[in-house]
Amino acid sequence: MSEFAELKINDKIYILPIIIGTRGEKAIDISNLRKESGFITLDVGYQNTGTCKSAITFVDGERGILRYRGIPVEELAEKSTFVETAYLLVFGKLPNKTELAKFSASLTESSLIHEDMLNFFNGYPSGAHPMAILSSMVSSLSVYYPDAFHLFEDDIDSDVNVPRLLSKIRTIAAFSYKKSIGEPIVYPRADYSYCKNILNMMFWSYSKPQEPDTFKVKVLEKLLIVHADHEQNCSTSTVRLVGSSKVNLYASICAGICALWGPLHGGANQKVMEMLDKIVEKGYSIDQFIEKAKSKDPNCRLMGFGHRIYKTYDPRAKVLKAVCDEMVKKYGVSEPRLEKALELEEKVLKDDYFLSRNLYPNVDFYSGILFRMLGIPTKMFPVMFAIGRLPGWISQWKELHSTVPFKIGRPRQIYIGPEEAHYIPIEERK
Ligand code: SDX
Repeated sequence: MSEFAELKINDKIYILPIIIGTRGEKAIDISNLRKESGFITLDVGYQNTGTCKSAITFVDGERGILRYRGIPVEELAEKSTFVETAYLLVFGKLPNKTELAKFSASLTESSLIHEDMLNFFNGYPSGAHPMAILSSMVSSLSVYYPDAFHLFEDDIDSDVNVPRLLSKIRTIAAFSYKKSIGEPIVYPRADYSYCKNILNMMFWSYSKPQEPDTFKVKVLEKLLIVHADHEQNCSTSTVRLVGSSKVNLYASICAGICALWGPLHGGANQKVMEMLDKIVEKGYSIDQFIEKAKSKDPNCRLMGFGHRIYKTYDPRAKVLKAVCDEMVKKYGVSEPRLEKALELEEKVLKDDYFLSRNLYPNVDFYSGILFRMLGIPTKMFPVMFAIGRLPGWISQWKELHSTVPFKIGRPRQIYIGPEEAHYIPIEERK
């Protein structure tokens, strides 16, 4: 493979460096293109544009491979915990026993939010979407931890804002749920694991003082692990772009939460469940949904199918589909939405419209069924995605700030507006 590409414009040839990634991905470095040629490139949706070199996550969309720091997501889902996977992503290696104990302790120490923040919840109407609450609460954390504004002066690795945010995001999420159902909040417990605390803070109550079911805690671990990072997706790219202005970590993550909320991205899990609810509760036919999805109406997309990168089965969907089966076997209850999802998948994967466009189930297709089986309300699904993705966002944000040279993200454009014009006094306007 040559180390350079040649670009011929008119009669001039420009030599552009070629970069090869670990797994052979190829890029043409155009960092100096405009300076040398006066040209920029145009790539709507960044379908062909890399914004960074990264050592965190590898995705092979053609072969359905996802690895965090080189480790396949399937292995981590089977053998690891979410806290250990978060450490792997954020610090670049699996922790030894001492490192894991210290990291876990830092999460436990930071699990409470400032009591003043409880007042925020009272200001929201009961039907407030929990992603609106989560994004504003995360951004507001910077008010209580102003040391976050000096993050860049200190070593990010030892920064307390990383465990703080990882720990508090679940407390904020659980508190927002309790507020939405009018129940007293349940505080995190020092003797519970990260995921056990989430389920306990959400579902323990004085009328049902039950400890979270161990199997369901393990299911939540797997759910959060498969969501933990996914290289330069929409919300992660947002975290990087906003973070490149050197704003604090909380504001950068707040932006990522807002981007994730979109139904084309992390909000798809909520839309998948609403689609399956309609099919089960209103008796909508699956064939109707499939036909409407082919109608090209962007509002009739088959949510949970298709992916910018995966042109085969999303490996995360495979993991979660298997966990759905485990849940049904464990509790012996069939979940009608799972049956409809399996029927929908079977029909779609026989339909040339979808196969010809490489539209397969993605992570959002089965995750919603599992969240539902855990008792999590539909509007909270994107919040669970955000909790899972937080270690990925933080790891990418850290990598951005260790990049040399450090550049603020500022894309160019091709202007197609009017030529120079001049002000017209209102009396002279038509
Ligand atoms: C996530 O990027 C990531 O890594 C994201 C994510 C992560 O971990 O961060 O993996 C998480 O966001 C998963 C995706 C969740 N979104 C959905 O499930 C929403 C439904 N899917 C889509 O809207 C769509 O597939 C996207 C947004 C996911 C990808 O869109 P692209 O890459 O821009 O593809 P496209 O819109 O150009 O579609 C290509 C073709 C089009 O048809 P043609 O114009 O070629 O005839 O496929 C069709 C589309 O109409 N198509 C669909 C479809 N998705 C694409 N048709 C029906 N139903 C769908 N779901």
